[in-house]
Amino acid sequence: MRILGIETSCDETSAAVVEETGDPARPWAVRSNVVASQVAIHRDWGGVVPELASRQHIRDICGVVERALSDASSTWSDLGAVAVTQGPGLVGSLLVGVAFAKAAAAAAGLPMVAVHHLAGHIESLVLQNGELPLPSVVLVVSGGHTSLYLVERPGSYELLSRTRDDAAGEAYDKVAKLLGLGYPGGPIVDRLARTGNERAVRLPGTRLTHVDRNAPHLKGDLDFSFSGLKTAVLRLVRDRQQRAPGPLPAQDVADICASFQRVIVTTLVDRAFEAASRYGARSIGVAGGVSANSRLRAELTIHGERREMPTFLPSLALSTDNAAMIAAAGLRKLRAGVLAPADLNADPALAL
Ligand code: KG4
Ligand code: ZN
Repeated sequence: MRILGIETSCDETSAAVVEETGDPARPWAVRSNVVASQVAIHRDWGGVVPELASRQHIRDICGVVERALSDASSTWSDLGAVAVTQGPGLVGSLLVGVAFAKAAAAAAGLPMVAVHHLAGHIESLVLQNGELPLPSVVLVVSGGHTSLYLVERPGSYELLSRTRDDAAGEAYDKVAKLLGLGYPGGPIVDRLARTGNERAVRLPGTRLTHVDRNAPHLKGDLDFSFSGLKTAVLRLVRDRQQRAPGPLPAQDVADICASFQRVIVTTLVDRAFEAASRYGARSIGVAGGVSANSRLRAELTIHGERREMPTFLPSLALSTDNAAMIAAAGLRKLRAGVLAPADLNADPALAL
């Protein structure tokens, strides 16, 4: 069985064809994964402009799907289903994918599956590595989310903690912006941090001890908070610019990037390992756009080896938004018999 996946939740128009392998240990294989990035369009504005994003999805979606089918040497009649990201994300962007999927599924007489964007990110780990040793603690760390999940059975996700304010990727993007580095900030900060001194400036890490009033059922002490860190960088930059007006020297920028990245990565890795030991996990996975970060990848692997805990990452191409992960998560739901109704609607605040 082959499935067509469609992802349009933010600023990437993506379509992919993924196939069931019949091997329970490595259940899915990517036949094609086409991503049309809108970064060049949003860069001028310093962030994603939702209205521009949805209009560009409309322009790109047909060509991206055609390309995904031809790269996979597939036609509509080779497909068994269509999977689409239903949410969370930008509503105008999501609507383009959902409307396309509904029309395509109806025209081709195919069943449709609605996928949660973060279930897709979690599934990227299985696409890359095969089924993880369970139970697994999975950290989903992206531009919109920083959440820890406990995966006890394939396809089941229990939320353990999340960020109280900014997501890690959002903190990267905001810090890059205030350092005048451009958009998206994550990859730029990652690159500059390599030439900086990570101990040059002292920045605060945050450890929450109180329960989140908005999520009283969670203990809260594994939660994340990155807005204080971002504000500390802002204060530091303002302070330096007051003393010496004009752009900061390149070495100072690199030092700030390195120091900021050290705090973020240490927090993410420590909290994931803490959750793993608390919940008796047999593996740790890290997925989402920030899992492309070179330091996060290195630290996760080093800590895993040191503590004899198997750790898993997606490839770089499967880290950031893509439709292959949506197709794979769609196949899992299809297997479980969970189909979407023909009147499916996008849900920008969909819960996992
Ligand atoms: O998963 P994703 O592609 O989109 C969302 O679902 O949000 O994640 C995008 C986020 C952006 O904030 C971007 O700056 C961040 O991932 N990112 C990185 C790196 N590559 C992408 N952050 C840190 N280091 C990177 N190398
Ligand atoms: Zn994402």
